Amino acid sequence: MTAGIEVELAGGVLAVTMSRLDKKNALTNEMYGALADAIERANTDGEVRVLLIQADGDTFTAGNDVMEFAAQATGNGPKERHVVRFLRGLANATVPIVAAVQGKAVGVGTTMLLHCDYVILSEEAQLITPFVNLALVPEAASSLLLPLRIGHARAFEMFALGEPVPADLAVTWGIANKLAPAGELRAEARRVAEKIATKPLGSLTAMKRLMRDAEKLVAQMDCESTTFVERLASAEAKEAFMAFAQKRQPDFTKIARQ
Ligand code: COA
Repeated sequence: MTAGIEVELAGGVLAVTMSRLDKKNALTNEMYGALADAIERANTDGEVRVLLIQADGDTFTAGNDVMEFAAQATGNGPKERHVVRFLRGLANATVPIVAAVQGKAVGVGTTMLLHCDYVILSEEAQLITPFVNLALVPEAASSLLLPLRIGHARAFEMFALGEPVPADLAVTWGIANKLAPAGELRAEARRVAEKIATKPLGSLTAMKRLMRDAEKLVAQMDCESTTFVERLASAEAKEAFMAFAQKRQPDFTKIARQ
């Protein structure tokens, strides 16, 4: 087990649990590495029929660790960015992915759901994509997938304003399949995962391949990544990360367009 990620295989379901409670499950490079390993295992281990993504605590995930963004912006980031392997893994995943989401799903916490095949939200869950608030751009091919899923107007609003989308609206918009009371979320997600695990896996993986254009998704991720890295080095991002560390609102109004 890597710090912050637990992985367990039972009944054909590989359950991956984000668990970094003191930081609201904010994802570090090491955690992305463990998530990427789990997806690779799901693709290659004959025992795995479904991947289940879930989280401990009151928050699904606070998204990428912002202090790691800040380190990366100053050239002090990790040599190998496992997030790239994780995102490509999601795009190329062969087995069905079920997600159980409670509380806030921030940034990649929401964009990873666009690669999941069956998403259950707890009734109080909120989806938040504050990339622009951090002076960044969307990732995980979400700049392609979110407008496709919910239309340009709603996607623009989610990305540009970064305001929480409540769970019931997320279901209405088709980002998620259904709601569950918080206390029943895990059990319901496992029930769905185990049901999918009884289906013919060859048929499921073939169907999933037909429903998704993995190559196009990876190409979009590469475009996003180039812009993302440029944005990380911007004066706007510097202000955003400093504001986060100082627990204040950022002020972008003095920074001219670059
Ligand atoms: N990266 C690093 N640390 C994070 C984090 C993140 N993405 N999100 C939360 N934390 C840390 C906080 O700094 C705080 O640490 P501290 O106790 O050492 O001060 C701790 O986790 C608890 O967070 P807090 O903000 O007190 O919890 P909350 O319940 O009031 O709010 C969030 C939870 C997720 C709404 C809020 O923390 C938040 O907005 N985080 C930033 C999300 C973000 O911008 N992610 C990047 C997306 S691209």
